[in-house]
Amino acid sequence: MSKQRLTVILTVLAALMALFAVPAASAHNSSSAREDLGDRGLRDLGALRGLYIGTAVNMDALSADPTYRSLTQSEFSSVTAENVMKWETVEPQRGVDNFTQGDRLVRFARRNKQSVYGHNILWHNQLPGWLTTGVSNGTIDKQALKSILRRHTLALVGHYRGKVRAWDVTNEIFNDDGDKNTPATWRDTIWYQNFGTEYVEWVLRWARQADSRVGLYLNDYNNENFNGKALAYYNLAKELKRKHVPLDGIGVQGHLSLKYGHPDPGEIKATLQRYTSLGLGIAFTEVDIRIPVLTAETPPTAEQVTEQTRRYRDVIDACLAVRRCNTFTLWGHADKYSWVPGWFTNPPEGYATPFTDAYVAKPAYWTLREALAG
Ligand code: G3I
Repeated sequence: MSKQRLTVILTVLAALMALFAVPAASAHNSSSAREDLGDRGLRDLGALRGLYIGTAVNMDALSADPTYRSLTQSEFSSVTAENVMKWETVEPQRGVDNFTQGDRLVRFARRNKQSVYGHNILWHNQLPGWLTTGVSNGTIDKQALKSILRRHTLALVGHYRGKVRAWDVTNEIFNDDGDKNTPATWRDTIWYQNFGTEYVEWVLRWARQADSRVGLYLNDYNNENFNGKALAYYNLAKELKRKHVPLDGIGVQGHLSLKYGHPDPGEIKATLQRYTSLGLGIAFTEVDIRIPVLTAETPPTAEQVTEQTRRYRDVIDACLAVRRCNTFTLWGHADKYSWVPGWFTNPPEGYATPFTDAYVAKPAYWTLREALAG
């Protein structure tokens, strides 16, 4: 067993001590076949497999909705801020930090013996208005932008030093082009436009400077198959390793949709193993599986539910089959607060998480439990 996985097991087992006091989620289905799984939820079962089971947390829901809060506590050993650690929130005015919301999440996690996964240091979305405006009107030049990026990285990672176990250091830096033999191209962001590809190395080094022990991950969607993006990450990670740039893993978001073909589980596993062959860890960071529907109100068909369940199972099985896959995080656990219906409206998609709007556990939830118990 790797040292990393042993550490995860020990940390999460300690957390379980606190869990016995937490009542099982009221939404759990109690049919007799499912009773075979016992009372253990995802969190407890994940601990036994040395795997963090995480969810993205919506801070408004956490305050306002007791069922949401209770599930967040009882089912997950890891939490990620869905929005509140992003740059637009933490530095709303230039040079003025605001970690209030992120700190709330960290306190919640500490009370519930949960680990925190940091999302994110650098992205091209949800940047503060002062920054994007300054770059576009020329009041922030290349040199100023570099020092702004350095300050942000040191402030954010420094503030959460010892409180966050790993960061998505970069998010979505490649396009969706290329193929299994041709790496994807770099996304044309303000970072790439100003600095070429060098910014990745800078941010990794600054993050390491701010926290010598935190995990440093490069995060993206559509990087779980043998495609151009996965090849681009493999090549970049290899090059960073060669240059002794600090890098601990690849974040695989796992935003999937039934609109696309069923992913080949063997290919997912092999893609993860290609990353781990470089000595990297794997974190599934944002898993959800969307269902295309006729209208936002149309429920999914039985066939769609079966297919969604199968895909959840394939993804978690791939993680469980790869020794260095240390995290399986959902991008929200309840349809009620999922980003999907608001984002995919034409054609509509939804029903992407393991719990319904009314917090009924779907077959997807049970298959995750079965996989972890297996
Ligand atoms: O901040 C405003 C708030 O002031 C206003 O009251 C409210 C009214 O709708 O909108 C708020 O902003 C919203 C923000 O979430 C915070 O709630 C934005 O409109 C909304 O677009 C934004 O969406 C987030 C999206 O990232 C932005 O790109 C989603 O909640 C979040 O789930 C999503 O997460 C991303 C990951 O970070 C990266 N990977 C993809 C994933 C899904 O897009």
